[in-house]
Amino acid sequence: MDLAIETAGLVKVFGETRAVDGVDLAVPAGTVYGVLGPNGAGKTTAVRMLATLTRPDGGTARVFGHDVVREAAEVRRRVSLTGQYASLDEDLTGQENLNLLARLLGHRKRTARQRTERLLEAFGLTDAAGRQVKGYSGGMRRRLDIAASIIRTPDVLFLDEPTTGLDPRSRNQVWDIVRVIVAQGTTVLLTTQYLEEADRLASRIAVIDHGKVIAEGTPGELKSSVGAGSVHIRLREAAQRPDAERVLAATLGATVQTGSDPLAVTARISGEGTEIGAAEQASHALAELARAGITVDDFSLGQPSLDEVFLALTDKPAAEEVAA
Ligand SMILES: Nc1ncnc2c1ncn2[C@@H]1O[C@H](COP(=O)(O)OP(=O)(O)O)[C@@H](O)[C@H]1O
Ligand SMILES: [Mg+2]
Repeated sequence: MDLAIETAGLVKVFGETRAVDGVDLAVPAGTVYGVLGPNGAGKTTAVRMLATLTRPDGGTARVFGHDVVREAAEVRRRVSLTGQYASLDEDLTGQENLNLLARLLGHRKRTARQRTERLLEAFGLTDAAGRQVKGYSGGMRRRLDIAASIIRTPDVLFLDEPTTGLDPRSRNQVWDIVRVIVAQGTTVLLTTQYLEEADRLASRIAVIDHGKVIAEGTPGELKSSVGAGSVHIRLREAAQRPDAERVLAATLGATVQTGSDPLAVTARISGEGTEIGAAEQASHALAELARAGITVDDFSLGQPSLDEVFLALTDKPAAEEVAA
């Protein structure tokens, strides 16, 4: 198996903080690799070392076999990082920004214009092409940023929290873009705070916490150690809640949680020891509730949150560090 990125014992220290504390990663070429962790986990610091923007204090990192310290120029030629190399000029239009970057990267006038047109179209920005970037929405800006980072098709693209703060529609657009980029052969290392995002896009995921990898595997492996998700139910009548809890506990064998809302019940679906998917288990539970005469007004099936992942892996919720 070809590795796009390989790190061994990678370390970066800021004063007392071991931001990255002995990270081993093996990222297969041609895949999306997810690095999942809360604020302050060390994601950006790790990415910056891989992109040669910060020197490691210990360990080694290679990109397609090239050492990020000794062969930094080789690495730089192969990687691109959103929001770093590609800084957008707010006063220029989307089209002008891409065109300028294409020219800076050495494209001739004509090919720069063609590349710009193609990217604007692929990223749904053709209509906004002639508008100044300062008038763009968060989602449009993020898309333009990613477009700028692939003007020259990189072997490895680092996407550092590409959808944080985006609305669901923009998030979906970014996900589609990532799928297209990886289909064209680029290896994508994506950092995220959302398990759902890593699950949708990544072939493998490393969960990091306080600079250390605390779990690694396919999304399926991760979810089977964490639980497949939760069923959230809203009842018609509060008086039926104790019955609903009993039925859910019996059918799902799950931990049932209730909070201050007297109509709401949440049950974790365990992913272990069953071949039946979360949706099937949930529909079975709904049928049992109906059979017991319990009226359900609303229902949703959610994937485990980052907090649930961390609870399962560390017995602690994701400890978010206050940004310095
Ligand atoms: N330039 C820096 N100087 C001092 N501390 C830093 C610096 N960059 C990051 N840190 C600290 O390193 C830790 C990891 O930060 P970071 O890599 O930005 O995490 P993430 O991207 O996962 O949110 C945090 O505790 C952060 O405060
Ligand atoms: Mg970060």
